[in-house]
Amino acid sequence: ARKTLVAANHKMNGTLQSVKEICQNLNNAQLDPNVETVVAPPAIYLLAARETLKKEIAVAAQNVFDKPNGAFTGETSAHQLKDASVDWAILGHSERRTILGETDEIVASKTKYATDNGISVIWCCGESLEQREAGKTLEVIAAQLAALKKEVSDWSKIVIAYEPIWAIGTGKVATKEQAQEVHASIRKWLKDNVSQQASDETRILYGGSVSEKNCKELAQENDIDGFLVGGASLKPAFVDIINCKA
Ligand code: 13P
Repeated sequence: ARKTLVAANHKMNGTLQSVKEICQNLNNAQLDPNVETVVAPPAIYLLAARETLKKEIAVAAQNVFDKPNGAFTGETSAHQLKDASVDWAILGHSERRTILGETDEIVASKTKYATDNGISVIWCCGESLEQREAGKTLEVIAAQLAALKKEVSDWSKIVIAYEPIWAIGTGKVATKEQAQEVHASIRKWLKDNVSQQASDETRILYGGSVSEKNCKELAQENDIDGFLVGGASLKPAFVDIINCKA
């Protein structure tokens, strides 16, 4: 069975004080021991989050570069994350793809470099509203996966997050049927293009307007193995999302 994973993506929100408070709140909460919890604060607060959180809770960067060190102003390496006990990174978030111009190829290269160097990756994919309305959802996601497959051979350190762009920050959550359909198609893609093992073992998270109100229903779907949470991860109710199956 796949272990449920619930990750907080703080995006570019918060202060040193608020990040510490969120971490202390998680330390003090009763969290379902069957759920893996990951917290991704802004880069400048990674160390504070790691120092504050108990060891059972992992920390993720929201980005990581694909070179070991050198003249890459503004970037952070996988080695530096490891050095700071940050074991995870989110890569390919739609905000980085659309606002920062990251292509499928850049995201795939970063994912390969990170996983080869001991960082687990939450790799994001998802369609725009226009693509969904044109009936292209599964095609778009298959193309994103195909670009990843060109670079990556070891899938054991990858968690996939399906985040329909139209559901991010809009309060318009995908229905459980819509999410399950895409998750099942990603799992089938893994079986057909990678291996039965990758298909059985890779966790597929849903992201996009997840809240303490809608998480329980989504979590019951066969192929939804957890969540990548934006806005609600900044609030105390994030604990209820972690405990969606309890
Ligand atoms: P919201 O939960 O705020 O919709 O954001 C989702 C997201 O982009 C998480 O990575």
